[in-house]
Amino acid sequence: MKKINIGLLGFGTVGCGMVKILLENREVIESRLGASLALKWVADLDLERDRGVIVDASLLTTDAEMVIDDPEVDIVAELIGGYEPAKSFILRAIENGKHVVTANKALLAVHGHEIFSAASQRGVEVGFEASVGGGIPLIRSIKEGLVANHIQSLFGILNGTANYILTKMTDQRIPFSEVLKEAQALGYAEADPTFDIEGIDTAHKLTILLAIAYGVPIDFDAVYTEGISKVTPLDIKFIKEFGYRIKLLAISKDDGEAVEARVHPTLIPDDSMLANVNEAYNALYMKGDAVGNVMLYGAGAGMMPTGSAVVSDLVDVARNILRGAVGRVPSVGYQPAGTKARRIKSIEELKTEYYFRFSAEDRPGVLSKISGILGKHQISIKSVHQKGRDLVGAVPIVTITHEAKEAAVRMALSEIDQFEVVKDKTVLIRIEDWR
Ligand code: HSE
Repeated sequence: MKKINIGLLGFGTVGCGMVKILLENREVIESRLGASLALKWVADLDLERDRGVIVDASLLTTDAEMVIDDPEVDIVAELIGGYEPAKSFILRAIENGKHVVTANKALLAVHGHEIFSAASQRGVEVGFEASVGGGIPLIRSIKEGLVANHIQSLFGILNGTANYILTKMTDQRIPFSEVLKEAQALGYAEADPTFDIEGIDTAHKLTILLAIAYGVPIDFDAVYTEGISKVTPLDIKFIKEFGYRIKLLAISKDDGEAVEARVHPTLIPDDSMLANVNEAYNALYMKGDAVGNVMLYGAGAGMMPTGSAVVSDLVDVARNILRGAVGRVPSVGYQPAGTKARRIKSIEELKTEYYFRFSAEDRPGVLSKISGILGKHQISIKSVHQKGRDLVGAVPIVTITHEAKEAAVRMALSEIDQFEVVKDKTVLIRIEDWR
């Protein structure tokens, strides 16, 4: 049986998942591929730690460059994460004519153009199924399964850690910091959990999805990003009362003229399918012009699910090698000549419904002052509730608006927050209500 040699860089959580799957599912993989995926090297700086997977000691090395330069290695799996040395290793592997498989969304979201161009010029493949949605085959579904469609919109829950935190805060009222520790212990979180909490990891993933959905050049800076660190138990309580659930959503819509690209905490109807994607699960809800709505759901993080996606790329590349069909599907799903820049809308252009929580003194005339400013900026109120009564301090006044313009909302809130009767910065959460 023909052998395809794999050199693994990074024996961490995902690397372990990949190795375990290659060992435990060898038979089924071989019966599907008609060749064997042979682990030639496993490179990591730490070779001592017990990872619960037994690898022949002769495969272990601390010398990543030796792996990349080994002429017998066909595919380099970069599972180190981060920008450097991962980027240099990938570019060197490409230069050496090796195919690359990576889970590194941060790297692709920022340096993807350079990496994909280098690969296309050298005639090698870059597989990155594991970079978005963990074990869910999102990338391949868009690139191949939905190839016939213009993608019109996508809504994604793409960070397991953030979803886990919001789920526990909503359903069990566990404080933010405690849930974060649990998510880290379960192996969901990034090395720097700020990426999970502040929406950066989700924005990395959305950047990659934009490229494969619309054929736009990779541009991480164009994605508006807000995280979940300011979500309070008080807001979660009110949100539930209004019939919503809060999710950290990656949102993109194409209106033909320009594309929206934003990541922020979002209120969605609590009976919608996405609202029921909980714990560390991820989902992507998309609309294609031919297919209609499609939702993909599954484990978005963790050793084995992400390992499953990595191995799917290894098999894909191996199939192409065996058939001499490398480059059959372009890395980002579009031919280089078919990629075109689109205008990405700024957040000020957004039109949506809003949840506001004002903290204001509880006395006559306060509400009319607030609603007067909203009215002046053409922001129409759908419902308003004052929660409780406090004659000394401030009370929360929760307001849901009809569709309004973000630029107007920002101006109105900055005026309102300057009133003496308003005691704290107003909380703003955007709503996507498709009921
Ligand atoms: N930290 C990521 C998450 C891992 O929590 O979803 C998968 O990309």
